Amino acid sequence: MATAARKPHIIVFANEKGGTGKSTTAVHVAIALATRGANVAAFDLDHRQRTMGRYFDNRAETVKRTGRSLPTPRHATHDGESLARFTESMESLATDADFLVIDTPGRDDRFARMAASRADTLVTPMNDSFVDFDLIGQVDPVTYKVTRPSFYAELIWEARKVRAKADGSTIDWVVLRNRVQHIEARNMRRVSEALDQLAKRVGFRIVPGLGERVIYREMFPAGLTMLDSGEFGSMGLAHVAARQELREMMGALALPEPVLPLFA
Ligand SMILES: Nc1ncnc2c1ncn2[C@@H]1O[C@H](COP(=O)(O)OP(=O)(O)O)[C@@H](O)[C@H]1O
Ligand SMILES: [Mg+2]
Repeated sequence: MATAARKPHIIVFANEKGGTGKSTTAVHVAIALATRGANVAAFDLDHRQRTMGRYFDNRAETVKRTGRSLPTPRHATHDGESLARFTESMESLATDADFLVIDTPGRDDRFARMAASRADTLVTPMNDSFVDFDLIGQVDPVTYKVTRPSFYAELIWEARKVRAKADGSTIDWVVLRNRVQHIEARNMRRVSEALDQLAKRVGFRIVPGLGERVIYREMFPAGLTMLDSGEFGSMGLAHVAARQELREMMGALALPEPVLPLFA
């Protein structure tokens, strides 16, 4: 799809916490969009872990090794230091892209803040845990009612102000309930209720993310996802279920639709 607007739709994965699945989800969203025929670019701002960049490097190796072609985003990894390089990469990746997917480190980082203020869709993956929730809001220890928003919600508030001033547009902030395991019903319900309260107060949408599944880990060395697995072997039930949850997440993210439906 090359008829798109000049400016890509920017999706930033951010959360100042490691292990919530930012990189894994970012990779899957980027590959899902590329699979649907979009021109996708990806920018990894986590120069230490480089998970997203390494995932795509592994994917390129698989393409070389097998001779098969795979829809793959163009990507760059930031050095974490140079503003000039950040700006240059943002510009060159944005050229002709329908989507620019940006992964950020799980800590405070000035480039992550800059990226957040440029996001059209800002995705914060969160596990069903009050430990994760604490970054965006605090709850009463007895009633589990939200008492106040936390620093991360304030940071997004700032990013929204910066953005509104820069070009008058808004940031769609999406809290993704990620790595969900369906075994802890009571905790899940409490987190769910607290999220609903905070969503109204702070202004974000809550979207179901990926479940906790081994397949999201095991395909990293080959840089593959379950969207590719049809070409690389038979698909088990877990793959089918994972594809379904990815499809639902993509739908709920409500990204602009210049592309073909997934798995058409
Ligand atoms: N949906 C998932 N199911 C199972 N394991 C996951 C899932 N998402 C991420 N992981 C694993 O959890 C760890 C942290 O994920 P990662 O995407 O690197 O998080 P972050 O970028 O937020 O630090 C990695 O080992 C990754 O393979
Ligand atoms: Mg990461």
